[in-house]
Amino acid sequence: MPKTEADSARIAALRTRLLNWYARNRRDLPWRQSAAPYAIWVSEIMLQQTRVAVVIERYQAFMARFPTLLSLALAPEQDVLALWSGLGYYRRARMLHKAAQFVAENLGGNLPTSAGQLRTLPGIGVYTAAAIASIAHGEPVAVVDGNVERVLCRFAGWSASSGKSGGAAALRRKIENLAAKLLAPSRPGDFNQAMMELGALVCTPRNPLCADCPFAAECKTRGEHKTPRRAKMTSRAVAYALVVRMKPAASRRHSICGVRQVLLEQRSEYQSVMPGLWELPQLRSAEVPPTDLRMTLRHAIMQVNYYARIRDVAENELASLTASGGKRRWVSLTEASGMALTSLARKALTRAHLLTPPLPDPPPKL
Ligand code: ADE
Repeated sequence: MPKTEADSARIAALRTRLLNWYARNRRDLPWRQSAAPYAIWVSEIMLQQTRVAVVIERYQAFMARFPTLLSLALAPEQDVLALWSGLGYYRRARMLHKAAQFVAENLGGNLPTSAGQLRTLPGIGVYTAAAIASIAHGEPVAVVDGNVERVLCRFAGWSASSGKSGGAAALRRKIENLAAKLLAPSRPGDFNQAMMELGALVCTPRNPLCADCPFAAECKTRGEHKTPRRAKMTSRAVAYALVVRMKPAASRRHSICGVRQVLLEQRSEYQSVMPGLWELPQLRSAEVPPTDLRMTLRHAIMQVNYYARIRDVAENELASLTASGGKRRWVSLTEASGMALTSLARKALTRAHLLTPPLPDPPPKL
């Protein structure tokens, strides 16, 4: 709580400046056109660890296929994962699906309204609960994501802690207290979104645009603040088989052109870092003779850079080159494009011109 009248006036002025800045600069994002708690929930889960540009396209496709909580709850998990393709971190999709099923079965299809109750659902943590409760229901709870953390650290002149001897937890508490103190209680949803937007557009990790910042006059850093060194990436070499065949046409009517098929594999959680998703069959050896090398892709998951060699493999070489164990299926390229593929498999098939990349959204109609 503010201690003095001067303090309260200062905070009120900061809120006003931030909300005015937001009114002028907010991006017209698809999930901002809906106040439905379900729509906000989906967008907030997608926005965790994923760039807004990627989320925009996937969000629209997801909402077109699952427009309501009930439609999501009733869908098979593979359909949900397929629509999540490209967003990565598939655990989020599984938890979202499970939570929708729980709400449909136990809560009459109504998502809880308070942050405290929302947190009891699978996959909804402190951040997501605060975002949904404040944006959809006007509950005065502050959202603290990575963007807000950066804005507040710089504003208060704090350097990010290295995490030693409880420093990170203490800093996190200070940030949460400051966020709660600044929060505009009459417009918590707009305030929280404005803080996140400020971090995304102005108070950026590198080269922040301090001249455009509504907090600049009171900011104790006005530039980049000291952050701990990033964890070092490690590298791992892996190799996958690209096996393509022509399936003879089934009927005489189609006998001139067969259908091109690719072999995909679905492995369990004991066999793959991407269990349940469809991937190219993994090769036993990461060494690939140059003549068979189709491409090498770098693919980052958490702190690991995977250097994935994609090898052209003939059907009759499969048994000797791959360790079987997963479920395998020949699928047409059209079917593959709608399946729950790993991002790496989608990238490899797209670069090999076997799948077409998703089309960008058409320009809005004027
Ligand atoms: N990042 C995550 N959620 C957001 C939101 N609602 N507005 C802006 N940035 C966000």
